[in-house]
Amino acid sequence: MSTLFFKRFLKRPFQIASIVPSSKALVERVASKMDFTQPRVIAEYGPGEGVHSREIARRMTPDSHLLLFELDAALARALERQFAGDRRVHVIHGDAASLPYELKRRGFASCDYILSGIPFSILKIEKKRALLRKTYDALKPDGKFIIYQVTNELKQHATVFQRDESEYFLQNIPPMFITVFHKTPSAQGGGRKSTKSKSRSRLAGVGAERSA
Ligand SMILES: C[S@@+](CC[C@H](N)C(=O)[O-])C[C@H]1O[C@@H](n2cnc3c(N)ncnc32)[C@H](O)[C@@H]1O
Repeated sequence: MSTLFFKRFLKRPFQIASIVPSSKALVERVASKMDFTQPRVIAEYGPGEGVHSREIARRMTPDSHLLLFELDAALARALERQFAGDRRVHVIHGDAASLPYELKRRGFASCDYILSGIPFSILKIEKKRALLRKTYDALKPDGKFIIYQVTNELKQHATVFQRDESEYFLQNIPPMFITVFHKTPSAQGGGRKSTKSKSRSRLAGVGAERSA
């Protein structure tokens, strides 16, 4: 799977944006941001070869659903093969921006969590803002948008979200910012609250918000 990922990187370096999939430590840290004790609808933008998708599918309840949006045809085909026996997982070969349409056509009102590994920083500003708006609108009122990125530049654009928190996670090549954007539309006081980034080099995996 990693070989396929690397081959696709060679084919489309800007779209794939990484030569290796996320590390196990990063995958576990990202999964710890989600509560899997209840049925969930989760969307993932840019699953690649499925390293986060496998962990989410492993943790989520039998009546949960995971929608995978992968732009690369070869990676999408590999994901379809990988999850062929799992009716909870829906592979969509297409742009993350098709989320509202794909949710509606499957009868899902909204998502509990949206996870993204797509290289947001290379998107044109209009596309970036439009995708952030669609993402916000597709989340339940207390939903979370979780990203892992080499830079944390998306924070300055994701002002539609009421609150965010970031950490700098060193146990990945390259190190990544993990940022959780919270949709809390009923929050009083207005304005966006932001928590400073912190390094998790030695504390990685310890004190996670919740481990299912
Ligand atoms: C950095 S890789 C992340 C792969 C995997 N999630 C991981 O953590 O190893 C980014 C992936 O996002 C996909 N991608 C890029 N832009 C996308 C878009 N607009 N919609 C869906 N997938 C996209 C790429 O094809 C690639 O598989």
